Amino acid sequence: MKTTVNRRDWLKKGVLSAAGVMAAPYLTYGAFPSQPISLDANGNIPYTPFFKEYLPQSPMQPLALAAKLNANENPYGPSPMAVSAMQEYAPKGNRYAWKELYQLMDKIAIEEGVKQENIMMGPGSSDLLEKTAMVFFQNGGNIVSADPAYMSLIKVAEATGATWKPVPLKKDWSHDLAAMEAAVDDDTKLVYICNPNNPTGSMTDHDELIDFCSRVSEKTPIFVDEAYLGFLDDATKKSMVSLINEGKDVIIARTFSKIQGMAGLRVGYIV
Ligand SMILES: Cc1ncc(COP(=O)(O)O)c(C=O)c1O
Repeated sequence: MKTTVNRRDWLKKGVLSAAGVMAAPYLTYGAFPSQPISLDANGNIPYTPFFKEYLPQSPMQPLALAAKLNANENPYGPSPMAVSAMQEYAPKGNRYAWKELYQLMDKIAIEEGVKQENIMMGPGSSDLLEKTAMVFFQNGGNIVSADPAYMSLIKVAEATGATWKPVPLKKDWSHDLAAMEAAVDDDTKLVYICNPNNPTGSMTDHDELIDFCSRVSEKTPIFVDEAYLGFLDDATKKSMVSLINEGKDVIIARTFSKIQGMAGLRVGYIV
């Protein structure tokens, strides 16, 4: 006997963390949250699109082109220095790499000019975006972002119980910061900003964004996704990371998937 359960209710019941983490990458791309899940008589899930992403397509087709732009992968691959470091460490793959993890966090903290305790590592940044959504929206609320935006965090927020308040980009494709600020209300749990933005590739002025984050984070936390920051000439100057040392309620996400060409290696962090 089969029964169905609303996916959103199911996520809200107990299985949130385990299932939500598995669900997250799929949720990013689909109208998935509103679909029912089939359960068997014992309440187990015999099949779910949660697992779909992990099943290889058969047969796997090699890429015909070097550049695959729909995922913004770097066609050049990782730096040869990174490849040789990985080769050196691969035979030690049986060991948990706690020491190396802390070494990496130390290096990132120095690079970012923050304390090591401000860094949280993840398998790519998607996991951190989506976990943030799960933590912030367990009790509902709304999320304010640009439209169009990168939907990963927003989709998981909606699946967890949030309402999305989209604010159209301006004519020059930059964030409409005044309209976003006006959209923040007492129920807003998070503002999501992606700069440079995906899918438009557009930039929002640095000084205006600093001012916005600085002021609006007094009312509600702000998540700034800087996945593509590394493509800018003066990347470090364009980051919002300086706000962390000012004690502002801001989360900055970075990934090694784009400019560093390591999308398949899954390394990312939040500050
Ligand atoms: C804006 C943005 N943020 C985050 C990600 C997540 O990338 P990853 O999980 O590989 O770090 C992507 C990937 O395309 C992206 O475009």
